[in-house]
Amino acid sequence: MRRGGVCLALLALKVPAVALLAVPPLALTHLYGALSFPALVLLVLGGRRLATVSRALHRRWTDTTIPSPYPPRPRIERAEQGWYWTGYDYHRGRPLATVSLWFNWVARDPATWRDLLWLALDPVAGTILLLPGVLGFAAPLRLHARWTHALLAPTGHARLTDRVRQLTDTRAEALDAQAAELERIERDLHDGAQARLVAIQLTLSMAQRTLREDPDSADELLCEARATAAAAVAQLRDLVHGIRPPVLSERGLSDALRLLALEHPLAVSVTADLPGRLVPPLESAVYFAAAELLANVAKHAQAGSAAVHVVRRGGLLRLAVTDDGVGGADPAAGTGLVGVERRLRPFDGTLIVDSPPGGPTTVTLEVPCALSSPRTSTC
Ligand SMILES: Nc1ncnc2c1ncn2[C@@H]1O[C@H](COP(=O)(O)OP(=O)(O)OP(=O)(O)O)[C@@H](O)[C@H]1O
Ligand SMILES: [Mg+2]
Repeated sequence: MRRGGVCLALLALKVPAVALLAVPPLALTHLYGALSFPALVLLVLGGRRLATVSRALHRRWTDTTIPSPYPPRPRIERAEQGWYWTGYDYHRGRPLATVSLWFNWVARDPATWRDLLWLALDPVAGTILLLPGVLGFAAPLRLHARWTHALLAPTGHARLTDRVRQLTDTRAEALDAQAAELERIERDLHDGAQARLVAIQLTLSMAQRTLREDPDSADELLCEARATAAAAVAQLRDLVHGIRPPVLSERGLSDALRLLALEHPLAVSVTADLPGRLVPPLESAVYFAAAELLANVAKHAQAGSAAVHVVRRGGLLRLAVTDDGVGGADPAAGTGLVGVERRLRPFDGTLIVDSPPGGPTTVTLEVPCALSSPRTSTC
C-alpha cells in the first residue's frame, strides 16, 4: 500500500478507539451507572484488541516489529481437596476460577495499563503525527511507528520477566530430559549388556565344570559365551552411539552429518561451512535434530533426494534439511519434530517447518551461538 493510504488506514483505527473511550462516561451517566463495570471490561478488552491490531498493521505496513508484551495465560490446575488454582487464587468452582483467572491475568498485567494509556493518547497524538503523512511524506509515518513502539512494545522489565520465565521453563525441560535419558541408559544397561554379561558368567562356570569330563560340551559352551560377549559389545556400541556418536566426538559435526548422509537410504548431499568446533552439548543437539529430520525424509517424504546445509555465520548456526518429496510435514502430527524443538530450546534455538502440500519440504533450525553470558556461550 502507498504511504498516504497507510496513513489513512492507520487514521481510521482512531475511530474505534474514540468510540471505546466514550463507553465508560456514557455508562456512568446513564442507568444510574449500573453498566459501569461491563463498560470498563469492554474498554480494557477492546483496548487490548486495538493495540494488537495496531502492532500487526505496523509490522505489515511500516516494517516495525512491535513484540507482544502480554505474558502467557496461566492454566487452571486442580489442587488437592478439589479446589481450583488459577495461578493467583483458589476457587471451589471451575467457572468462577475461569473468570478470576481472566480478570487477574488482564488486570495485573502492566501492559494492559500501557495499552489504555496508548488508547487515551493516540487519537490525538497519533492523528497529529499521521495527518502530514496523508500527503505522502515519509517522516510522519516513521514517527508514528516510533510513537506506537514506545507505548506498545514490552518494557525492559517485561522483557526480563519474560526471559526469566522462558529460562525457568527450559531449565525444567532440560532437567526432565536429562532424567529421562539417564533412566533410558540405566534400563538399556540393565536389560541389555548387564543381562548378557551375567549369562556369560553362567556359561563360563558351566564350561569350567564340564571341561575335564566332557571337553566337547565345554567347547560348545565357550563358543556360546563368545557369541554372547559379541552381542553385549554390539549393544554397548549402540548405546554409546545413542548418547554421543564417536564420530561426533572425534571428527565434529560436519563429518558426523556426512556419515549420517552416507547411511541414509536416499542420495543426501551435505554442504557444511563450520569454522571450528561447537561446544559438545550443542553439537549433540544439532546432530540428533538432523538425524530426526533425515529419518523423517526416509519415512514420510517419498522423496528422490535430500540435502543438508549447515552454516555458522554472524553468531548464528543454521541447519536446513530439504527434500523434494510430497510435503505436508506437521509438528502436531507426531513427537519427533516437537522433540527437536524441545531439544533446541535450552540453547534458544528455533525450528521452522516449511512444507506445503505437494512439497518441497525445508525444515530449518537456527541456534544463536553467542548467548549473553560468556559462561553460557555455545560457540
Ligand atoms: N520431510 C517430510 N515430508 C513429508 N511429511 C513429513 C516430513 N517430516 C514430517 N512429516 C509429517 O509430519 C508428521 C510429524 O513428524 P514427526 O517427526 O513429528 O512425527 P513422526 O515422524 O510421525 O513420528 P516420530 O514421533 O517417531 O518422529 C509426520 O507424521 C509426517 O506426516
Ligand atoms: Mg519423526
